[in-house]
Amino acid sequence: MPICQLHGAAVTTVEGIGNTKTRLHPVQERIAKAHGSQCGFCTPGMVMSMYTLLRNKPKPSMEDITEALGGNLCRCTGYQEIIDGYRTFCEVCHHGTFTTRIQGKVELFRKEDLLPLDPTQDLIFPPELIRMAESPEQTTQKFHGERMTWISPITLDELVQLKTQYPQAPVVMGNTNVGLDIKFKGVLHPIIISPTRVRELGVCVCVCVVLGVCIGAGCSLSTVQSVLERCVCSLPAEHTQTYAALLGQLRHVGGQQIRNVATLGGNVASAYPNSDLNPILAAGRCSLLLQTKEGKRRVPLDKDFFVGFRKTTLRPDELVLSVFIPISRKGEVVRAFRHAPRKTNALPTVTTGMRVWFHDGSDVVREMSVYYGGVGACTFCAERTSQQVTGRPWNEATLNEAYRVLVDEVTLGVSAPGGQVVFRRSLTLSLFFRFYLHVLQYLKDMTRAHGLPHLCIDVHVKKVRSAQDPVGQPVPHSSALTHATGEAVYCDDIPHMNREVFLSLVTSTKAHAKIIHIDVSRALDMPGVVDVITAKDIPGQKFQSFTGINEEVLVEEEVTCVGQIICAVVADTKQHGKLAAAALKVTYEDLPDRIFTTEEAVEQCSFYAPQRTLQRGDIHMAFQEAEHIYEGEIRVGGQEHFYMETQSMLVIPAREQKEVKVYLSTQHPTCAQMSVAETLGIPANRVSCHVKRVGGAFGGKITKASILACITAVAAWKTERPVRCVLERGEDMLITGGRHPVLGKYKVGFMNDGKIIAADVHYFVNAGNTPDESVLVVEKMLVQLDNAYNIPNLRGQSVACKTNLPSSTAFRGFGVPQSMVVIENMIHDVAMTLGRPAEEVRDRMNLYKGLSRTHYKMEFDPENLHCCWVECKKRSELGRRRPAVAEFNRRNRWKKRGIAMVPIKYGVGFGHSFLQQAAALVHIYKDGSVLVSHGGIEMGQGLHTKVQQVVSRELNIPLSLIHISETCTSAVPNTNPTAASFGTDANGMAVWDACQTLYKRLEPVRKKDPSGTWKSWIATAFQERISLSATGFYRFYLSMDWQKQEGRPYTYFTYAVCCSEVELDCLTGEYRTVRADIVVDIGKSINPAIDIGQIKGAFMQGLGLYTMEELKFSPSGSLHTRGPGQYKIPAVCDVPLQFNVYLLPGSQNPFAIYSSKGIGEPIVFLGSSVFFAMKEAITAARTDVGLSGPFPLRTPATPEHACLACNTHFNQMIPKMEAGTSPPWAMELP
Ligand SMILES: Cc1cc2nc3c(=O)[nH]c(=O)nc-3n(C[C@H](O)[C@H](O)[C@H](O)COP(=O)(O)OP(=O)(O)OC[C@H]3O[C@@H](n4cnc5c(N)ncnc54)[C@H](O)[C@@H]3O)c2cc1C
Ligand code: FES
Repeated sequence: MPICQLHGAAVTTVEGIGNTKTRLHPVQERIAKAHGSQCGFCTPGMVMSMYTLLRNKPKPSMEDITEALGGNLCRCTGYQEIIDGYRTFCEVCHHGTFTTRIQGKVELFRKEDLLPLDPTQDLIFPPELIRMAESPEQTTQKFHGERMTWISPITLDELVQLKTQYPQAPVVMGNTNVGLDIKFKGVLHPIIISPTRVRELGVCVCVCVVLGVCIGAGCSLSTVQSVLERCVCSLPAEHTQTYAALLGQLRHVGGQQIRNVATLGGNVASAYPNSDLNPILAAGRCSLLLQTKEGKRRVPLDKDFFVGFRKTTLRPDELVLSVFIPISRKGEVVRAFRHAPRKTNALPTVTTGMRVWFHDGSDVVREMSVYYGGVGACTFCAERTSQQVTGRPWNEATLNEAYRVLVDEVTLGVSAPGGQVVFRRSLTLSLFFRFYLHVLQYLKDMTRAHGLPHLCIDVHVKKVRSAQDPVGQPVPHSSALTHATGEAVYCDDIPHMNREVFLSLVTSTKAHAKIIHIDVSRALDMPGVVDVITAKDIPGQKFQSFTGINEEVLVEEEVTCVGQIICAVVADTKQHGKLAAAALKVTYEDLPDRIFTTEEAVEQCSFYAPQRTLQRGDIHMAFQEAEHIYEGEIRVGGQEHFYMETQSMLVIPAREQKEVKVYLSTQHPTCAQMSVAETLGIPANRVSCHVKRVGGAFGGKITKASILACITAVAAWKTERPVRCVLERGEDMLITGGRHPVLGKYKVGFMNDGKIIAADVHYFVNAGNTPDESVLVVEKMLVQLDNAYNIPNLRGQSVACKTNLPSSTAFRGFGVPQSMVVIENMIHDVAMTLGRPAEEVRDRMNLYKGLSRTHYKMEFDPENLHCCWVECKKRSELGRRRPAVAEFNRRNRWKKRGIAMVPIKYGVGFGHSFLQQAAALVHIYKDGSVLVSHGGIEMGQGLHTKVQQVVSRELNIPLSLIHISETCTSAVPNTNPTAASFGTDANGMAVWDACQTLYKRLEPVRKKDPSGTWKSWIATAFQERISLSATGFYRFYLSMDWQKQEGRPYTYFTYAVCCSEVELDCLTGEYRTVRADIVVDIGKSINPAIDIGQIKGAFMQGLGLYTMEELKFSPSGSLHTRGPGQYKIPAVCDVPLQFNVYLLPGSQNPFAIYSSKGIGEPIVFLGSSVFFAMKEAITAARTDVGLSGPFPLRTPATPEHACLACNTHFNQMIPKMEAGTSPPWAMELP
């Protein structure tokens, strides 16, 4: 939102509605107390969306709430706690939905404790702004910037004059289109006309009941919605066909925030190829009223209006005044359909508006109009298809003829932008078919309103030790309230410093090329530029080596992927830096042999050493004995971390003593400290790294944050100024890499009863252009290869492939979610081959039972795994629901259901002993307050809160006395990454150790004065010169001998089982998770609210990994998906309709603090239960077309892949593409 557009507006921010010092707003309090804030980075956005809703509707319905939050993304929580907190505002609040109980006694939060909503306390709109808006003396406003002038006229005449004077100037209304072009494509408009105050553009008139409604072009889409809703309510249904269809589309256009500003005229004039509105407006016989200085003219909004990519017949000096939408006529049926990668807040893949008009009292078509979006450069009219149908009866013969013409009429080349060519063409047919059905069934609405997500949790905790003991209690995240009020400080919230400058990165545009020349001259001449940093400026080591192989900090001679960092511009502002970075010219010479896929890497033997093998038994012999052998494969796509806070850092040099202070968002401050020291050529004791909190990390802020810190430090060192570097989302996605894409191949030998006796599995891991931690990932994949199954003869081989894609890195699960989905797919194939339910093959035949040994000879007891399995089967009512699913599938041709149950046995800890250590420092001050420092990072997982609970129990003091300020390498040195679900295990134990020391030291004082208080004991201890500061340390021995292929790489296993059911729309591939039940063995939870938050957040991230989040690269290795517009993570609409989490009671774990278990990572894999449920649903669809047996389905199983796998006759009708004619828009990875 440009600041000029806010002239006359009152802006309320999250800080403005309440704070922790004076008064909290209930919207802030409820998200915090309901555990709806983890890392907190999204929390202010959630708060303000809800605040806006309540300002407009103090008693909202659940639909209102989910709609209001539909445009907000959260990467941590899984949304359910947020919804639970906010559902307390609903007038009708169903019992049990907000009071989540523990053992039937303790609630995760209590409604009675919440502040009541009192709208009279809310801020009022400033009267001076009202007076200003109503003043008759308003004049044209002009704002002049460095590069553009913003003109905001008052009257239509002035507007017309301006448009005549500046025909090329855009008319900015909502700015949702122009703004994106300026921000992301660097488009410069020297003049911008903003007529938001021109009254005529915002007028809506119901022209006449028998004609239609005329809507001002400047009306926001939300206004259009309410106008149409009124029309639909007041007019007879036969006249409101177009209105209802438009409303259906409008509900899905962007999120509510977008609809509140985006305008109807803007949507029409932008002429997006996949506009949702233009096809239905065109099919609905709408017209536009246009204005120039010569006068007005009316043009139909039809096929002749759209002439090319974002081009219409509008003249440059012409304005759209209004859009006329006629009523529908008797015998007319109008519908609009869309398919998008996500239900809300996603541009459609294909969208359509269709209208048919029948001759009176007959089924013979009098007129037909079909428009599509998303199938070409502009809104497309299927004119020939419409002609084909006109004059014919509405029946199957006509439909089949229509298909024939439609296939021919809607064509897309192999390289069509956006890809998904076969899918999109198939959608044109299936959406047409859907229209056919609608018409046939006399407008009967096929979409079903879904129920609301419903949470039911059964958590068992041990009896607490004392009334004050918080261990085992659902204590809210210690920063939740400051997250919700905007007071929480993230790296980029640190106030700007004197002489501070900004760092902008210049990255490679080539996947593999020699750098011939870097021309910095133009960049250096640009306003505000201070310097350009290249590899030559690095005073110390020019490379980093995270796993023993060197990686250049700034590349000097040869680039090996698009997005590799070459140099960086230092400028006074971010904007200046960005412009200069764009002006900097790098000349390249292309190098041959680019490698992108794992297949290409194998062909060219392009690997990072060492390759790993892990084996038990004799697979060759076992294959000979097997009654069946099956060979299959699965492609597992990568995943973007999409932490809400992008990589951020601020480096402050103090040259005199060769010191630097680094404030950054990282999971591993020691890694950043050592890397910066080496890069600057100074000892580590001169570098201090500080982390207050991290706005989400998920593995992506270990090595990548360190490299960026090195570059920023070099800039600070050279310029002797504080330097800030905060990546934009697109840059972050381009540069920092993500989860490893994997090609998994397997050969499996099994018996008639489903017992697997041999498996040979190969993992080809796309590691990208640098080794990063890939070799460790590859190792972990093999170690976790067996998942929960006792396969007596098992061999796994894995290799990290060196390719010219951005380097992959750690991501929650560290390769395990990829490794295990391959194994589960193999099991699924076995079940399909035998025609048995997959859970039968999993459970009865193959699950570990009794005291067991893994394939690397680690002994363990799988009893709790078995308990989780049994409990999940019972809780999910699998026995009852499987036949119900089969029955549903028998009754429905185009909707299919699937149900799947998947287990996990997840090893917690790092596979290397040196990583199994942690340290802590605990100070007790004279007033009794306690300051705790430890090596772990608070990144949303509630680590600091749990550590405070540990201190509270050990020192027997209330939580209010305990504070954790930050993680700092000066306080606790030589820390390990906060990762591997090991944060609480390691740091909790280190802090426990320090507290034990302190408690023992205080014992004589306590004994002397048993009736004293904590404060009096501390005062006495000080008088008696007892040290009130102690360090703590924890270590655990682990080992893995790859030569001997045996060891104990984990401290223990976390077990869990999830049963998910989905409903799939076979026509479009869209699906909904109907229900998910998870049973987890988490030992004895230290904080059930936090653990459940981790479970649900991880499940949703897994659901995204396996079914939604698709990274797309161009054939030249450039990432297409660089933001939320192209890359879809789960939103509120993706939460399972029924989502139950159960914690296994009575579990013990002697290997971790208070018998708890690590939970951050394991549940990601359980998102695959949704993938396998989809596979089941697809299997049902394939059965209907006569197909049986295993079939390939890659992850993520996006609607495209799911729909094509159904192999309906719509898919079959699309002619095969000729191979080799031109490259596809996106590559097939891994
Ligand atoms: C996150 C996001 C999600 C979205 N999702 C969807 C979606 O699901 N479906 C969909 O269809 N669209 C979607 N959109 C697009 C959105 O609907 C359009 O960008 C919006 O309607 C344009 O209106 P605006 O007022 O913001 O246009 P602006 O950006 O202000 O202007 C856009 C263009 O229209 C011209 N223009 C505006 N008004 C007039 C006028 N009165 N006369 C002449 N020219 C004019 C301007 O000159 C400019 O070139 C999405 C956009 C965003 C940012
Ligand atoms: S709490 Fe929502 S993004 Fe972290």
